[in-house]
Amino acid sequence: MIILGGSASNGLDILLSKVIGADLTKIETTKFPDGEMKVKVPELNDENVVVVQSTYSPQEKNLFELLLTCHELSRRKAKITAVIPYLAYARQNRSFTSGEAVSVDMVLDMLHAAGVRRLITVNPHKSDALAYFKGKAGIVDASKTLARAVMGQLDEPFVLAPDKGGLNLAKNAASVIKCEYTHIEKIRDNYGNVSIKKAHGGGFKGKDVIIFDDVISTGGTIALAARYAYAEGATSVCAAAVHLLMADEAYNRMKTVGVVKLFGANTIPFEKAEIADISSDIAEFIDHEKKEYD
Ligand code: R5P
Repeated sequence: MIILGGSASNGLDILLSKVIGADLTKIETTKFPDGEMKVKVPELNDENVVVVQSTYSPQEKNLFELLLTCHELSRRKAKITAVIPYLAYARQNRSFTSGEAVSVDMVLDMLHAAGVRRLITVNPHKSDALAYFKGKAGIVDASKTLARAVMGQLDEPFVLAPDKGGLNLAKNAASVIKCEYTHIEKIRDNYGNVSIKKAHGGGFKGKDVIIFDDVISTGGTIALAARYAYAEGATSVCAAAVHLLMADEAYNRMKTVGVVKLFGANTIPFEKAEIADISSDIAEFIDHEKKEYD
């Protein structure tokens, strides 16, 4: 097995090659004068290739680099596993309003057409979104590793999921931190506006609340939950998310409402957060299925 790292691997290619003990080679990316991307895949001495490329912003560029790479590898008859730590477009897994394209299906189709037969990603927003993939799809859960980064940093921890969908993540995190957890009910309208309907449980008085979510984009969800936790008596509020997309003013939006500290995983680069390394989780997943790679 050989690791082939893309320009948006965020260092996970290096970490993975060390953990797995496999050789690492880098994809060479340049530009044609007109701006089109040129990808060159070096000669590889192994047919089992694990391509590592995250698809954070600029999503289309990073995705296209991955597609060109896999297409070239499939011309060479390589057995391709794509490790895509953050899978772009996975949140649009249905038409929320009439006529909206189901972007995750299109991305999965393109990856398969480019030769990817095995895809590994980390905490996609909806796990069943990958069911459409015509190859084999695997999901790595980073929640426990993320929770270990938080552990020991809070005096009276209390895990809060900002919506029902985040309950499993919160439950996993709370089992590591060994504290209580609950969720609040969030409503999002078709224009993306969110509001809180009700909270389940609560009891945040004197607690150091840590909000766990799969992704932070605009920071609006975390800000709403943080305001709620403070209103219910929390001593402090921190936030942890697997994927720190951090669009627009996300960081300031959270700071403004008193989010003290931010934690994330290394699926996406973000300098202002404490980052948990999930390479061992991915390596363990690959190792678990090793016989199918050989
Ligand atoms: C949605 O259900 C997700 O779990 C996140 O809560 C959401 O995508 C975060 O987006 P934003 O940071 O823009 O509120």
